[in-house]
Amino acid sequence: MQRTLLALAVLGCGQVWAHDIITTPITFDREILRIVDSRCASCHRPGGSAFSLLTYKDARPWAEAIKEEVLARRMPPWGAVKGFGDFRNDQALTPEQLELIVSWADGGVPEGDDKDIPPAPKLDASAAAAPPKGSLTVSGDFTVKSEFTLDGLWPQHVPDKASFQVTALLPDGSLQPLLWIEEYKPAWGHPFLLRNPLDLPKGTVIQGIPKDAGVTLLKAAPGTAAVNPAR
Ligand code: HEC
Repeated sequence: MQRTLLALAVLGCGQVWAHDIITTPITFDREILRIVDSRCASCHRPGGSAFSLLTYKDARPWAEAIKEEVLARRMPPWGAVKGFGDFRNDQALTPEQLELIVSWADGGVPEGDDKDIPPAPKLDASAAAAPPKGSLTVSGDFTVKSEFTLDGLWPQHVPDKASFQVTALLPDGSLQPLLWIEEYKPAWGHPFLLRNPLDLPKGTVIQGIPKDAGVTLLKAAPGTAAVNPAR
């Protein structure tokens, strides 16, 4: 009996979807899955920090929410980055990618053709990896005790929807902006990797991390060419 009900429920869904009128040439299998693979899959995958979006079946019920989230720039969480910060793992969507998602969601959410499905993505381990040895987790203002080459910042414990600006006040008095986030959710939990590692001399003061937050200063691997901040 239960099985029959389940089968009916599944059939029911299929019918609703089949009634969608397709008005777009954009399909999940060809365009959308490639965007998901490159911009969402680090979190939205089986076993990831959020529900999977890696198959049409997974993503279909979320189509409208996906459109809303990307238009509001809440997803991918890079929308929380404001004003400054230049990161090599920036996942923000391009205007073209936004347009493809909107067209797909508004145009009947077509699945497309299996033959267009790209190979499974090789996921960047950095999203899940632990901070490298020698990294420091900082709360409140912090003075660097011995020279430190900064590879990035990882908000690991932040109050829900925290907004703050992290800067480095160098011993010569110059101020180096590092990371400015707005309404960051702890559940997103991903590192911000600097485009170029930055030398922080002894005596540098890291400012702007709230006392009730923990942001990990990621240590660059030994031998990484560090650039000195523009003076
Ligand atoms: C760094 C991790 C991360 C990345 C990258 C990411 N998400 Fe998310 N997403 C999450 C988490 C965690 C949630 C759970 C809800 C929350 O806390 O915001 C979520 C929630 C969502 C939701 C549900 C929002 C709601 O209605 O509650 C949608 C839709 C979504 N993401 C779409 C996307 C899309 C599309 C992309 C890529 C373009 C993306 N996400 C990239 C972590 C991520």
